[in-house]
Amino acid sequence: MSELLRRPPQSTTRGTLDPADWDEIRALGHRMLDDMIDHIATIRARPVWQPIPDTVRAQFREELPRRPSELDEVYRVFSECIAPYATGNVHPGFMGWVHGGGSAAGMLAEMLAAGLNANLGGRDHMPIEVERQIVAWTAEMFGFPAGASGIFVTGTSMANLMAVVVARRSALGSDVRQHGLGEEGARLTAYTSKAAHGCISKAMDIAGFGSAALRCVAVDQAHRIDVAALRTQIARDRASGLRPFLVVASAGTVDIGAIDDLALLAALCREERLWFHVDGAFGALGILSDMLAPLLAGIGEADSIALDFHKWGQVPYDAGFLLVRDGERHRDAFAAPAAYLRRETRGLAAGSVWPCDLGPDLSRGFRALKTWFTLKTFGTEKLGAVITRCCALARHLEERVLAEPRLELLAPVNLNIVCFRYRAADANTVNGEIVIDIQESGIAAPSTTVLDGRLAIRAAIVNHRTDVGDVDALVDAVLEFGARRAADADVVEIESPPLAT
Ligand SMILES: Cc1ncc(COP(=O)(O)O)c(C=O)c1O
Repeated sequence: MSELLRRPPQSTTRGTLDPADWDEIRALGHRMLDDMIDHIATIRARPVWQPIPDTVRAQFREELPRRPSELDEVYRVFSECIAPYATGNVHPGFMGWVHGGGSAAGMLAEMLAAGLNANLGGRDHMPIEVERQIVAWTAEMFGFPAGASGIFVTGTSMANLMAVVVARRSALGSDVRQHGLGEEGARLTAYTSKAAHGCISKAMDIAGFGSAALRCVAVDQAHRIDVAALRTQIARDRASGLRPFLVVASAGTVDIGAIDDLALLAALCREERLWFHVDGAFGALGILSDMLAPLLAGIGEADSIALDFHKWGQVPYDAGFLLVRDGERHRDAFAAPAAYLRRETRGLAAGSVWPCDLGPDLSRGFRALKTWFTLKTFGTEKLGAVITRCCALARHLEERVLAEPRLELLAPVNLNIVCFRYRAADANTVNGEIVIDIQESGIAAPSTTVLDGRLAIRAAIVNHRTDVGDVDALVDAVLEFGARRAADADVVEIESPPLAT
């Protein structure tokens, strides 16, 4: 070690934000860690979710704190007011929306990442190598070539937007980055299915095309894009002078988990010379499951894939990811030289390509670490087995629904999502109330969606902790609250005065 490096230990923390007593913060830190590990370990003992009392909400309407507070007092407020009123997705009874459960290993990694406080926008340091390792692993999962690139982002909404931007640059060349879409850009049209996630339309809007430039093609009975209808639409658009440039396939639709015929779409995109993007928010990681991988055949031919490690990958939020087959095209869409971001061949400014060349963010956190910990700790086989198990639980739920005359299945069960309802006269209202009743009871947390005008109770099984007992508890709760709601509806009906005609 150079003599120059030998510095005296800091003698005072005055004026800094460091604690005056490191032992004190160490002890409190250990307590926080113990408490949070207990919180996860005993999660079943608590409600999945509970409404926030007004008194608790009011605590977060206070004035900007100008004076310091003791850390243990701040922690007390966290323990009493924040932790008990979180989303609930750590709990095995959480089946609303598509939320992953996280893991203790991922949580610890998040703490370590915060300690390092690394900025992954660029420069030459190991945290960036960790992100590159995940890029390489993800490319390997999908059989992408060596030149592929990837980047962590907040979530699939952002990854889909960035994929649209890469496809836009690829279609219009470098000009679009200086002069905008122009006349040529105004002719570009993109394609997805009616079952696609709303963020695709939002991405088209934000990327300057306008959501009307996105054609939402019909789906078949299984909610997969109708490829013949897609072909017809593309031909019609070409004939009227438009320029198709992008197809966005779904690998797991948000409503029911349908997977488009990716192999057929890959062939069509090759033939039509279109960018082939796959929204694999949760479904893409099905590639790790022996049971689901065959359903994803063709995903490896995509030009880009968006996915979330924070869903079926069980990485704590947030850990969205964009993978692009041709790394050069990825860089072409985002790299923007600046004097203050000058690259060197040695020193801290070495190590180009930097992640800031692959997306809009310059400052970026160390999302890669919790993903690396998760993949290393559990391995892809175990994570794949969790995915398979979630689908088996969905089958169990489907069987219970089919066996129960008071319940009705509303959509085919493709993966891990089950849409059903309680049979009742005013079924949409009754089922909406049932879902809220169950959420407020703390027993489970399903969500809703609307399929062909029918409100469905939607259970998306994503959490590795969810078990048969949790699924049964959901069914029992639907039957119990359903009976109560249906009885209330009858009473209201009887008591209602006849409508004047
Ligand atoms: C199919 C699909 N696409 C996109 C998204 C949006 O992902 P995120 O919430 O990570 O932005 C979701 C979310 O559930 C999804 O299911």
